[in-house]
Amino acid sequence: MKIADSVVELQAILAQERKENKCVGFVPTMGALHEGHIALARRCVAENDFSVVSIFVNPTQFNNKNDLVKYPRTLESDCALLQSAGVDVVFVPSEEEIYPEPDLRQFDFGGLETVMEGQFRPGHFNGVAQVVSRLFEIVKPDRAYFGEKDFQQLAIIQSLVKQLNLSVEIVPHPTVREPDGLAMSSRNRLLTPAQRKSAAAISQALFESKKNKGRLSISETKNEVINQINSRPELRVEYFDLVDGGTLQSVQNWEDSDQIVGCIAVYAGDVRLIDNIRM
Ligand code: PAF
Repeated sequence: MKIADSVVELQAILAQERKENKCVGFVPTMGALHEGHIALARRCVAENDFSVVSIFVNPTQFNNKNDLVKYPRTLESDCALLQSAGVDVVFVPSEEEIYPEPDLRQFDFGGLETVMEGQFRPGHFNGVAQVVSRLFEIVKPDRAYFGEKDFQQLAIIQSLVKQLNLSVEIVPHPTVREPDGLAMSSRNRLLTPAQRKSAAAISQALFESKKNKGRLSISETKNEVINQINSRPELRVEYFDLVDGGTLQSVQNWEDSDQIVGCIAVYAGDVRLIDNIRM
């Protein structure tokens, strides 16, 4: 496995591979890799001739500077995991490589970015769009892999690809969970043992809400999920909404959409966790 830390180096490697008409798969990450990322990397390796994973903690998508400072950085163990997944190149650029000049682009994702994460993390998706479009421009992948845990991010990236008319195929991959159901996240390692134990209540509440769908209305479901999670002293729900999976707009009745998704953000101390469930 090669490690490239500059655009020139990465593009020289890719040019060589493209001479043989190889199909290039790409997994963008911010490092602190867990089994969820490794599942993406393995799938990328299985479905493409050549696989690139990037590790770049993108400052423009952090609306909270403390979150950026705290974000775990574990490059050595990340590279070992990627090597064992069969990845061909890890791209580890500096901030100057990604943003040789400040990125002033303002994207417009309409209603997709004004709700949920977009509402509580202003500017976050603009930063995601900046870095993902820049990485796509550098790597020019045939396919790119994203986890469904970041459901809204996936919708934003699909919209970005349409807006910029890019030829990359976006491949969504199901959320990978811990044995107790907690969605895997780089932030999980920041939880105290008590917070980690309680955090399992998030997915449990989501799974139960799906089971009780026939019995409870949309507003009763919302209250039930929020109350169940907030009854844990370590947890505080920031939002839980039931939305149409395409437009991400709230639904009022179960009949309003045939692709309803429950999306949630919860604080455990100052660690922010998100998850979602297809109802
Ligand atoms: O999902 C993430 O880890 C990040 O938002 C991404 C897509 C790598 C962009 O920095």
